[in-house]
Amino acid sequence: MTDMIGVDDALEHIERLRHGEVLTTERAAQVLALHRAGGLADYQLSAWLATIAARGLRFTETVALTRAYLGPDRREPAVRGGGRPVVDKHSTGGIGDKTTLVVVPLVAALGIRVCKLSGRGLGIAGGTIDKLESVPGLRLEFTEAELAARLATDDAVIGSFSGELVPGDTATYGLRSVSGCVRSAPLIAASIVSKKVAVGADAVVFDVRYGAGSLVPDRGAAHRLAGLLVRLGAEFGLRCRAVLSDGSVPLGRAVGNAAEVDEAVDFLRGRGDRGLAAECEALAVQMVRVAEPEEPEARIRERLRSAVGSGAALSVFVRMLTAQGGDTAPVLRGDGYCRPEVRTLVRARRAGWVTDVSALDIGRAALKLGAGKVFAGDVIDPHAGIRLARPLGERVAEGDVLAEVFHRAGTDGGAAVELVAGAVRVGPRSECRVPRAPEAVSGADVFGDVPDGTGAVHV
Ligand code: URA
Repeated sequence: MTDMIGVDDALEHIERLRHGEVLTTERAAQVLALHRAGGLADYQLSAWLATIAARGLRFTETVALTRAYLGPDRREPAVRGGGRPVVDKHSTGGIGDKTTLVVVPLVAALGIRVCKLSGRGLGIAGGTIDKLESVPGLRLEFTEAELAARLATDDAVIGSFSGELVPGDTATYGLRSVSGCVRSAPLIAASIVSKKVAVGADAVVFDVRYGAGSLVPDRGAAHRLAGLLVRLGAEFGLRCRAVLSDGSVPLGRAVGNAAEVDEAVDFLRGRGDRGLAAECEALAVQMVRVAEPEEPEARIRERLRSAVGSGAALSVFVRMLTAQGGDTAPVLRGDGYCRPEVRTLVRARRAGWVTDVSALDIGRAALKLGAGKVFAGDVIDPHAGIRLARPLGERVAEGDVLAEVFHRAGTDGGAAVELVAGAVRVGPRSECRVPRAPEAVSGADVFGDVPDGTGAVHV
């Protein structure tokens, strides 16, 4: 039971925190309980988050915040793998990142239990729950008992974070997204790890994306954040691995909620973009490795490819949607979920080669189209987005289509079209940006990156 504090105490605590007062589980839980009871306004909770983001937290404080996020009624997690480990994955987010939609059914098709608790869009990066909400009828909010029941009958479940499962993360997530409190290592780590602890995962693979358009600026910062995530997960008894991935170009071809679900389905049919394939395979391999440490990597890759080739992974996806009440007809018919009212083609203004695609500008364009939120009350258009027509390095003639921009009638797509036209760069030579291949890192590789004592952790 958390002792209730008043708003004056909470504001005093925010000021003290700014001047170095140590954040404890008790204090963080009191702030969150006061907000939950209506005694602290959203803007006051945002001030608390901004103070944490600006000051950073020490490792022990990040552990304290994660505990507080899990809430006062925390019990033993209900989800259990029945002797088999429950594996989860989580990405720090990036433009076009639809890996969850691919790897959850793919890994489950190998007989491994995957229970994934996902989030919504954060800043300019889309979120899995927003993407899946473009599937009509799909239910995503479950209680702990319902999650456990789902996993008892099915190997793949994707659910939404909720006030019951992770009250602290649920209260703070949306506020962070619209108040400039997204790029903070302790806030990211507490948000992600609390969700993984809440579902009772045994093992987790973190996908830490870096580069403009991601939450993390560069590979060095991604390495440090991976260290924090792995160490924080270990503190809660999770077996963790991480993959560092280059998010400076969009992942795959589609950016936008329904469009990304459609691209994931295409991938499961064996029609995947190369970059998306490399990333999904890297993540899936690590997820299988944490569940089956004895299995040789080459054999894991073989099993994963055959799960796509045989259609087994797509069947798991369809089964999962059906079990969660979702309309699967667009998958079965093959015409997809994305039904925009307006489409605009972006054409090459000159001949040359596609030398770069700015994830940041594509993400900004998607926000302008309504694929994500700028204000807390914004309503997402599930059918808004962008589809890139040409891969990096491809030769184009003047007038060739580089991308398609789509949205609902009544949205002014002009600014987004301009952003997309600038984001897809066409140069006179074939040398183009080559994104770094995804790199798997283990705890031993990244543990040393987390300062132990008094140093605050920043991205
Ligand atoms: N995903 C989350 O759930 N939280 C973050 O802070 C970042 C990515």
